[in-house]
Amino acid sequence: MRTELALRLATPADAPEIALMSRDTIEQGLPWSWRPQRVARAIRDANTNVVVAGPPGALAGFGIMSYLDTDAHLLLLAVHPLCRREGLGSAILEWLEDVARTAGAKRIRVEARRDNVAARTFYNEHAYHERAIRAAMYSGLADGVRMEKWLRVGDDDLPPAGA
Ligand SMILES: CC(C)(COP(=O)(O)OP(=O)(O)OC[C@H]1O[C@@H](n2cnc3c(N)ncnc32)[C@H](O)[C@@H]1OP(=O)(O)O)[C@@H](O)C(=O)NCCC(=O)NCCS
Repeated sequence: MRTELALRLATPADAPEIALMSRDTIEQGLPWSWRPQRVARAIRDANTNVVVAGPPGALAGFGIMSYLDTDAHLLLLAVHPLCRREGLGSAILEWLEDVARTAGAKRIRVEARRDNVAARTFYNEHAYHERAIRAAMYSGLADGVRMEKWLRVGDDDLPPAGA
């Protein structure tokens, strides 16, 4: 576990580095959609958290989650290839999940490429279950899998009595 790396909220200065990590570790082979401006917008957005591990210029990982009513959406999560399998991805995910819980979210949604065995295994280990496979979900070029994790079930989520 990389306990020496404290997690912190990203600042606008981190945006270019996060965008490059997204391009190289998540969006490879797809049109680059998370460019610095989009990441900077997410950093400024009151309903989105962008968390990073490591100092500016040497980020080891990052995660971006948006919070909308009782639904949270994990938009991006990546760990530098040299820092993987040391618990950092789990630490970033758990940090974002804690915020979602505190904010009252019931469910967290996330998507990954269908052929991304590492991500699917990682999310399965964190109690996300796979809901649907979507053909050509990523710019028509790659299939995706939609996953979700329920944090709590409210009264309005239960079937009516007698049903
Ligand atoms: C998915 C990712 C974030 C995991 O980060 P990480 O820091 O390596 O994850 P952790 O060390 O916390 O792993 C926790 C558990 O997930 C599973 N896991 C993680 N990577 C795995 C892999 N490559 N193969 C199989 N299982 C894996 C394991 O069960 C692991 O526990 P273990 O190491 O004790 O066996 C990282 O591989 C990554 O950045 N991938 C590229 C970007 C990406 O695909 N992001 C997700 C879609 S947005």
